[in-house]
Amino acid sequence: MCHDEQARKQQKLHTHSLMQLLFTQHDIEARVRVLAGHIARDYRAAHPVLIGVLKGSFVFLADLMRMLSIPVTLDFVQISSYGAGTERTGTCRIDKDITLDISGRDVLVIEDIVDTGETLAFLLDKLRSENPSSLRVCALVDTHGRRTREIAIDYCGFTIENEFVVGYGLDFNERYRELPALYAYREP
Ligand code: PRP
Repeated sequence: MCHDEQARKQQKLHTHSLMQLLFTQHDIEARVRVLAGHIARDYRAAHPVLIGVLKGSFVFLADLMRMLSIPVTLDFVQISSYGAGTERTGTCRIDKDITLDISGRDVLVIEDIVDTGETLAFLLDKLRSENPSSLRVCALVDTHGRRTREIAIDYCGFTIENEFVVGYGLDFNERYRELPALYAYREP
């Protein structure tokens, strides 16, 4: 798709009554670059394992890792935490586990969004049991107002109070992941 078409698509959604633009493509790119700088500085003597939490983090992870000036190793995990709609089911389950041995490795979990914190709390407990030498978290969006578990986010892109966010990999019922910007979605 050409740039004009993409801009039109964004504009159309921006004016859609259910969508409110939160961060533009440009905002995201600038912020991801800053995060990449901090991570590269902190891990300059290491070779961290980046663990992307599927599916939402794949766009963020792909952009972030290409802005890093250090070598990394990549793995993925997939955890179910939401049912249909914008409400959680309250349970976490591993749908796809990592394949690498992370014992003694510096591990950085890459999340698209930390909402209640339940998914991350579950994942960090599981990863800790595999004895990494260090374990940190990088999240693009922290919806702080929805937190039910206290979780430290070491590298955070954007903090918002309480919105359901779509775009840039994040979905509502498997829609809107392809949008290049981040939007607040409100159910009709
Ligand atoms: C999202 C996101 C986190 C989780 C955060 O995943 O990627 O993993 O929700 O929510 P929490 O802090 O309330 O636990 P989701 O279950 O929507 O799956 P997806 O990434 O495949 O869309």
